[in-house]
Amino acid sequence: MSFKEGLEDFFYKKVVRNLILLSSLGRRSASGEAATGYNFDYMYENKAHGAWGIGLLIDKVLLNLPAVQATRARRENIVKILSNEIENRKLRGETTRILDLACGAGRYLTDLAEAFPDEKIEIVGVDLDKQSLKLAKNLSDRKGVLKERIRFVKGNVFKLRVLRSLGRQVDWRPNIVIASGLTVYIDDAKVTTMLKQIYDALDRNGSVLVDSQENNPSRKLMEKALRTKEGAWTLYYRPLEQWRTWFHEFGFKDIVIQRDPWHMYNLCMARKP
Ligand SMILES: C[S@@+](CC[C@H](N)C(=O)[O-])C[C@H]1O[C@@H](n2cnc3c(N)ncnc32)[C@H](O)[C@@H]1O
Repeated sequence: MSFKEGLEDFFYKKVVRNLILLSSLGRRSASGEAATGYNFDYMYENKAHGAWGIGLLIDKVLLNLPAVQATRARRENIVKILSNEIENRKLRGETTRILDLACGAGRYLTDLAEAFPDEKIEIVGVDLDKQSLKLAKNLSDRKGVLKERIRFVKGNVFKLRVLRSLGRQVDWRPNIVIASGLTVYIDDAKVTTMLKQIYDALDRNGSVLVDSQENNPSRKLMEKALRTKEGAWTLYYRPLEQWRTWFHEFGFKDIVIQRDPWHMYNLCMARKP
């Protein structure tokens, strides 16, 4: 390690880390909860908390980092994209059935159910984490969303028996599958297996919406000072062309990829013919 790298390491691991421990978002993100659904929900909610004035101030700074702004914009864009899907299905008299893989606290799902109170929508969110699921249920209850319209289920999305058994037991097949904040944690082999399973699970004319990151303005902070349950917060960064190629290879059509103004998130959508 060069002198410059050693100095940078010291700065992030000792100075920055100790400072951000004073803020709520920083404390959770530095102590292993960075990638949890409830931590992301904290970014969506965008209300600062922290110990004394300084903690509160640091929380505000963290909540305004470009990467966190981009994360909030992702929520809004997901809602916009899926709202279009709901409107189009409404024209055809169809029910929209959304399956969210690794839904976290599912805030954008509750946003959708709330925005379309009279449309035929059925949403199922799957996540491994009890605390995020509890928050998801609380959020949708607080907004008065009926249980027939939104359900949150505990499950491992890589054991897609979840998906298959869902289809068999209740004769329910999604016409939209979404995975936001998931593929950045898994390697290419796992992503491609997942895309194939999504293709098989989708109803005809169904859509998949996946987010991906090509870069991250907070990459150094994340890798050096913040942690997930598995260790350092390192992600798989992928160019958007990769998604176009994968979608094409797996038989999807109508591929649309949106890059955000931070060049951080790409929202990648495609349709099963
Ligand atoms: C970064 S959060 C994203 C949450 C939400 N989709 C969003 O975009 O705000 C990642 C979520 O993936 C969930 N997760 C990770 N691995 C999972 C797995 N194998 N099965 C189900 N959920 C998983 C975590 O519990 C966490 O809630």
